Amino acid sequence: MADNANNKLTALLGWVDARFPLTKMYNDHVGKYYAPKNFNFWYFFGSLAMLVLVIQIVSGIFLTMNYKPDGTTGLNHLPVAFTSVEYIMRDVSGGWIIRYMHSTGASMFFIVVYLHMFRGLIYGSFHRPRELVWVFGSLIFLALMAEAFMGYLLPWGQMSFWGAQVIINLFSAIPVIGPDLSTWIRGDFNVSDITLNRFFALHVIALPLVLLGLVVAHLIALHEVGSNNPDGIEIKKHKGADGIPLDGIPFHPYYTVKDILGVVVFLIVFCAVLFFAPEGGGYFLEKPNFDPANPMKTPEHIAPVWYFTPFYAILRAIPSFLGTQVWGVIGMGAAVVLIALLPWLDRSPVKSVRYRGPIFKTMLVLFIISFIGLGILGAIPATDTRTIVAQILSVVYFIFFLGMPIYTKIDKCKTPPERVTMSTPRQKWMFLLYVALTLIGAYVFAIII
Ligand code: HEM
Repeated sequence: MADNANNKLTALLGWVDARFPLTKMYNDHVGKYYAPKNFNFWYFFGSLAMLVLVIQIVSGIFLTMNYKPDGTTGLNHLPVAFTSVEYIMRDVSGGWIIRYMHSTGASMFFIVVYLHMFRGLIYGSFHRPRELVWVFGSLIFLALMAEAFMGYLLPWGQMSFWGAQVIINLFSAIPVIGPDLSTWIRGDFNVSDITLNRFFALHVIALPLVLLGLVVAHLIALHEVGSNNPDGIEIKKHKGADGIPLDGIPFHPYYTVKDILGVVVFLIVFCAVLFFAPEGGGYFLEKPNFDPANPMKTPEHIAPVWYFTPFYAILRAIPSFLGTQVWGVIGMGAAVVLIALLPWLDRSPVKSVRYRGPIFKTMLVLFIISFIGLGILGAIPATDTRTIVAQILSVVYFIFFLGMPIYTKIDKCKTPPERVTMSTPRQKWMFLLYVALTLIGAYVFAIII
């Protein structure tokens, strides 16, 4: 009986394979994809980013069933879009959890993607031959920022409205075409119902399609060249007689099982936030956004959501010069573009931080401090002292990237091993210590500033 069913399944698979490369695709990307055997905790974040992408798409589909992209005022004298979100939260069964999944999911997406990018930075995963993996990743990051920005307008709260107003106005600083460009983006002279409609279309259709396409390209490029690893050495250099890398293990079952562990831990954290702190202390959902959009009343302090604040702080830190504020906009844009250029800025002969010299390690620590510091400063109102601190941190941020071609060349690196190494318990404890110190440092900085 079981044999019969098995035979039928094999026959069906053969039929499909003769028409579509199902088995080949499975083997190329899962069953016979040989990944380095020394993956560590940092390698959870790629699969977690895919999980969050799915969570966002599925919860987004259900939200769209009841959300109304309408910025005009309804019978209750409130904007229809704002009311429809309140309706989802209060009246639609299970609506509150779907909405919180989506709003918390946005912040989770950025936490996961920032950690994923940081892994690439410390292990030099953008080096040859993975430049395109990195470039596709950077495009994903850009698309993700656009996706989050447009999504934030949809609840049509005070921060939705004023955040969009401030950010779209930035384009006006561009010489000659600026003012017309910002009117073109809004579709109106002010953020209005028209802006809401087009942001809705872009948020639910255009950008998710772009994101999905880019993620597929990202993975195809990665699987073409193979994964990097914490030692930053190429496992394809040492193959057995069977042509399989000696330090490689098949993705399934080894890393499917490992990734399930990551998923379980992630879901515990995600649920804890979802059920106990869905607003993330005012950082995931900002307080003014619980008030309906009011074009006649500017909130006291307009700040973007936390994941944009490092770049926003750079924007605010750069003063106007020669009668134009465009420098801030250029600085903010450059801060993002430089990330994509890492493969061409880094001249180090080794990839992983484990074998890099003291200059890179020092610059890396300074970069972490500047990124977190700018993130904190961008979230709070500017004062004279804070602006000076933000300027110093912006300079550090840019030196990390622009000085890289020089300091990575003169740095004294160690020779990496021929074959991959597994991390020791001592290294794992040291890592936890670094994380704890960074968090304490950020907390102390926030209190002082
Ligand atoms: C929706 C967002 C993203 C998804 C779903 C995604 C997915 C993945 C997956 C599944 C992997 C393989 C598993 C792993 O190495 O963890 C991977 C690897 C990689 N990703 Fe992403 N990624 C995303 C965004 C990014 C971004 C923004 C960057 C950088 C700018 C990036 C850079 C890389 C690099 C360099 C690798 C290869 C790492 C290595 O081999 O060491 N990814 N990504």
